[in-house]
Amino acid sequence: MFARAVIAAVLAAPFVAQSVFAADCSRTYTVQEGDWCDTISAAKNVSTYQLAVVNTGNIDSSCDNLQVGNTICLGTVGEDCTTTYVVKQNDSCDLIAQNYQLNTTILYTNNPQIDAECSNIYIGEVLCVAKSIAVPPPPAGSSLPAATIPATATPANAHPSTSASVPSSTSTDAGNDDDLPWCDEL
Ligand SMILES: *[C@@H]1O[C@H](CO)[C@@H](O)[C@H](O)[C@H]1NC(C)=O
Ligand SMILES: *[C@@H]1O[C@H](CO)[C@@H](O)[C@H](O)[C@H]1NC(C)=O
Ligand SMILES: *[C@@H]1O[C@H](CO)[C@@H](O)[C@H](O)[C@H]1NC(C)=O
Repeated sequence: MFARAVIAAVLAAPFVAQSVFAADCSRTYTVQEGDWCDTISAAKNVSTYQLAVVNTGNIDSSCDNLQVGNTICLGTVGEDCTTTYVVKQNDSCDLIAQNYQLNTTILYTNNPQIDAECSNIYIGEVLCVAKSIAVPPPPAGSSLPAATIPATATPANAHPSTSASVPSSTSTDAGNDDDLPWCDEL
């Protein structure tokens, strides 16, 4: 009967204060005018996935709630990939893995948002190309961060439609479909 409910004020803040994650952050960044997630990622050697996952609940999935002066986390202690690559036109996962001498298993583990066909990488996306597992794992029970191509982005490779009308002639970029090492693991 004497119990008093203490009602905490819930702020409808669009962006949670930096103190929430400050303890775990190995690097932080203060948002400037004109910044967008992938431009910050490219400039600071942070992967698109890592920036999204370490700011889960702070930066929204379309990265449209950044405000000048916000401090965001770039990486967490012990799980901070600083070896990154910015996706260009015509890139494929095989090509990127080859260029950095990594196997595709590690590329997919460090960039779990990439789909099994590598069809959702886009120009300007920043990938972790470290040779060992370097990023935090995807959060359990919520949607995978950074899995959707942003509305303003261009896919890196034009994939033929999945309909049966695709010509079967030998094209220069077909022929990798028989060794997709990640298929069994996803
Ligand atoms: C990002 O990586 C590149 C290539 O390794 C390096 O030249 C550059 O100094 C790095 N930038 C930052 C901010 O770490
Ligand atoms: C990508 O491929 C298309 C079609 O083959 C070609 O026209 C274009 O120049 C290529 N772009 C780059 C950056 O290599
Ligand atoms: C890729 O490298 C990792 C770490 O060295 C290894 O565990 C894995 O079996 C390799 N995967 C493939 C497909 O070679």
